[in-house]
Amino acid sequence: RTVPSVIVAIDGPSGTGKSSTSKAVAARLGLSYLDTGAQYRAITWWMVTNGIDLDDPTAIAAVAGKPEIVSGTDPAAPAITVDGVDVSGPIRTQEVTSSVSAVSAVPEVRARITELQRSIAAAAEGGIVVEGRDIGTTVLPDADLKIFLTASPEARAARRSGELQGADVNATREALLKRDAADSSRKTSPLAKAGDAVEVDTTDLTLAQVVECVVTLVEEKRAGK
Ligand code: DC
Repeated sequence: RTVPSVIVAIDGPSGTGKSSTSKAVAARLGLSYLDTGAQYRAITWWMVTNGIDLDDPTAIAAVAGKPEIVSGTDPAAPAITVDGVDVSGPIRTQEVTSSVSAVSAVPEVRARITELQRSIAAAAEGGIVVEGRDIGTTVLPDADLKIFLTASPEARAARRSGELQGADVNATREALLKRDAADSSRKTSPLAKAGDAVEVDTTDLTLAQVVECVVTLVEEKRAGK
């Protein structure tokens, strides 16, 4: 029996469990996986490393096409390289995290990365889970299933500071809300829930429960419900 290819878009703010959920759903269903936040982090890492003035959108736009970004799509090992260098670790530093909203707000950066995302999704045999902020609204508006994950700011900050060893919960909460506000208010393709997305509030759910919920929704789609 052949299983039809399926494209799943999972959007939402930071700390809602997007990455953990997306990877687990992809692994469970044998789908590819794309972390689009990692792509924005990778291009930001390149800008920081090359001393580009991040307060100057024109300077960012001028070099947006330079770095070659290659994303692995295996949910068990989603490596990402920039010009052949594995940046999976360096893209998670505080410096990159605090700079990524400015870089990802530049339209030339978004156009470049969006094109990359669409070509990866088109090439994924069997289907793919794509996680980000604007996947259901802009990148893949024809996705078979769109999920929008939410959670209370407290739950999100607690999860994030759990990930970052020894981080202060209040400082994490402030940084996270600041980044969400920037991502939601930018002009080009802001963080937003698509009209046809299913909203899942993960505040009081375990990761396993969220995964179960999304897997069920994908299976219902595949069954043609
Ligand atoms: O999911 P993340 O925290 O790794 O994402 C890092 C940043 O990348 C986030 O603050 C906004 C940006 N981003 C975006 O603008 N569009 C996406 N589809 C994914 C991430």
